[in-house]
Amino acid sequence: MEQIRKHESKVRGYSRSFPTTFTTAHGAIINDENHRQYIDFLAGAGALNYGHNNPFFKMKLMDYIDKNGITHGLDLATEAKEEFIRVFNQYILEPRELKYKMQFTGPTGTNAVEAAIKLAQISTGRNNIITFTNAYHGHSKGALRLTANEHYRKGLENELNQFTSFLPYYGYVEGGFDSADYLDQVLSDKGSGIDKPAAIILETIQGEGGVNVAPNEWLKKLRRITEKHGILMIVDDIQVGCGRTGKFFSFEEAGIYPDMVTLSKSISGYGLPMAILLMKPELDKWEPGQHTGTFRGNNLAFVTAAEAIIKYWKDDKFQDEIKEKSAKLFRILNIIKDENSDIITDVRGKGLIIAMEFIDAETASKVTREAFENGLIIETCGSEGNIIKFLPPLNIHHNYLNEGIKIFEQAIESIKEVELV
Ligand SMILES: Cc1ncc(COP(=O)(O)O)c(C=O)c1O
Repeated sequence: MEQIRKHESKVRGYSRSFPTTFTTAHGAIINDENHRQYIDFLAGAGALNYGHNNPFFKMKLMDYIDKNGITHGLDLATEAKEEFIRVFNQYILEPRELKYKMQFTGPTGTNAVEAAIKLAQISTGRNNIITFTNAYHGHSKGALRLTANEHYRKGLENELNQFTSFLPYYGYVEGGFDSADYLDQVLSDKGSGIDKPAAIILETIQGEGGVNVAPNEWLKKLRRITEKHGILMIVDDIQVGCGRTGKFFSFEEAGIYPDMVTLSKSISGYGLPMAILLMKPELDKWEPGQHTGTFRGNNLAFVTAAEAIIKYWKDDKFQDEIKEKSAKLFRILNIIKDENSDIITDVRGKGLIIAMEFIDAETASKVTREAFENGLIIETCGSEGNIIKFLPPLNIHHNYLNEGIKIFEQAIESIKEVELV
């Protein structure tokens, strides 16, 4: 930690919240240099849905490295890429009757978002992109234009206010205001002053923005409105895709078919960097190499990504397990909320992304700090920082899930005891 404290830029974030030096990890457990063990309810901010160093993928990866499989190959055709595409089509797209082409962008979520915006603009010839309050789409300037949080936009506002309009996300305005109806109205009205956008981009559950859940009916309505007005719908499934909500894609239950989908974080399965833009074939208006980059084909990630799909998504077993764990976590968190209604105001989420809202940021951060002291890694989110987000690996063993919840509950008790003293 000494070298990091001394020499790493002030921009570092998570190492401040969890101030220790981590050494090894396995499944839902992460260890530090003092031989302390932590249960990981942060899971790489959604990049470790199948846990740390998943043994099934590790074996495949080690075999691949051992046989001198291609590691870096720009976007050359490789055996690993060919196999990933085959598996993704066979087990993910075809059973869901989704006909997408795949673009492998630079390996961060943000780069997939950049590609989506560019392609939406190129393929429609329009500029404006509609995004939502509390949205989070990444930090390159294109993606940051779509991201709402003031903390991330600070000092860049003049540049960021081009080509985007923020609409209230579902539930943002109290009293029944529906921004889907509003969108329909302004796009139908020549006097609205809102230019017809190329696309709307949204998360079906806003992960960083506070775990705000859009109901299926609202998503369906938005889809109908975007189709009516000839506007593309981009779903950013970077955080809540790959099983986080219980299904592979977060929009499956709504029965919608977005024009484009961004995936990253857990798509590689192993925490290796990888990102994909899925697009309906008719939108594939790219010229060869028009959105290029050196690291678009992370072949090690293709190997583990294919294995993750084969291992977890061939049938419904894994989805049933997520459902069961989700029901349990919701049940217990609601009990904790009821017992602590003086400091906890809400529990919400879907699948294994669940938020507990506290009365203020100070209380929430006291709880996460106390939990860390006692062996649980869990983070806050939302623009006010008063929301604690439960994001355990999806394949977490029940014992660790129980133990994590116990540490969390004890953390609440301890901070309340301290306040009473
Ligand atoms: C919904 C969403 N989009 C985009 C991103 C950006 O991805 P990355 O951090 O890999 O650039 C994130 C990261 O948290 C995200 O949650």
